[in-house]
Amino acid sequence: MTTAQKLSFDVQLSDHARTSAEREQVLASPGFGQVFTDHMISIDYTEGRGWHDARLMPYGPLSLDPATSVFHYAQELFEGLKAYRQGNGAIVSFRPYANAARFNTSAARMAMPGLPEDTFVESLELLVQTDREWVPATEGHSLYLRPFMIATQPALGVNYPSKTYKYMVIASPAAAYFGGDKAVSVWLSTEYTRAAPGGTGFAKCGGNYAAAFVAQRQAVEQGCDQVVWLDAHEHRYVEEMGGMNLFFVFGDRLLTPALTGTLLPGITRDSILTLAGDLGLKAEEGRISIEEWQAGCESGELTEVFACGTAAVVTPVGAVKGADRAWTVGDGTQGPVTRRVREELTGIQYGTRPDPHGWVHKLC
Ligand SMILES: Cc1ncc(COP(=O)(O)O)c(C=O)c1O
Repeated sequence: MTTAQKLSFDVQLSDHARTSAEREQVLASPGFGQVFTDHMISIDYTEGRGWHDARLMPYGPLSLDPATSVFHYAQELFEGLKAYRQGNGAIVSFRPYANAARFNTSAARMAMPGLPEDTFVESLELLVQTDREWVPATEGHSLYLRPFMIATQPALGVNYPSKTYKYMVIASPAAAYFGGDKAVSVWLSTEYTRAAPGGTGFAKCGGNYAAAFVAQRQAVEQGCDQVVWLDAHEHRYVEEMGGMNLFFVFGDRLLTPALTGTLLPGITRDSILTLAGDLGLKAEEGRISIEEWQAGCESGELTEVFACGTAAVVTPVGAVKGADRAWTVGDGTQGPVTRRVREELTGIQYGTRPDPHGWVHKLC
């Protein structure tokens, strides 16, 4: 964490904001991450000075020197969370301080400055308050918030990190990322590795995602929706799925791969570990190999598998394919535990169920 001075935001409103008719047209079918709201947040950092020039400004392109460090060495990181419109009119987010904390964990790994957690949350509040009309009212839709930070020093020296950075937040209305309760099929990636011990797997840095595209493309070529990452040593132990964590359901017991440093500590994952107890389920972190996954499905002991994350919430996994094996999970469709977990989680987020853990944070 660095210079914790209280920043005040300069507010510059857009003089070319979309009309309500234009906005409604987007909100009728928002897709995911394609259209952005009228404003964005920007805060600059300079070594020795700390964070400065905090502002809300009209959404628009950046002008950067071609030598800017982020273009060459990918010194950057991001977060992802949502603003939900609840039935009572409140607009809320889900555990934004957990995103702020993960932002700073990623920053430490990427030799970047931390941002005070209150400033992170305040930046979300200001952007969502300003662009509140962009938060969809349709059930299951939300405003996806994308805080990120880039290294901005125009210098090619590879031996030291940038001395300047820019933190930004942009926002985009979002529909359900996959098809809601439709089960996805997954490809077990034995050719490519997402992360190895000592690497950046636990950090939300762009390089992890750049390195994943080729495996995701291979999954699609194999007729699957998503890639499942395995451990770097043996390519046997399950780590996570694309941009989501995984849960394995053995009747009333949930198992999720432990946080070994190579997988992203998902906030949805962490929340489900807590919610499981509320739902009368046992939950544990551990290790599961692809052989155990297949054998569990074949014996019937492993009843359901689901993936979880901010974008796609809780998504059932129905079919698994690898280079030399393929099998179905349960009957290949969503099971009852997956449904209950999703309903509980989305109920808290949209305010239709109680929030016993105080996870909901009012943005405006
Ligand atoms: C690689 C990866 N794993 C897991 C997740 C799920 O994390 P969260 O539940 O915080 O969205 C994400 C999404 O942020 C991700 O990108």
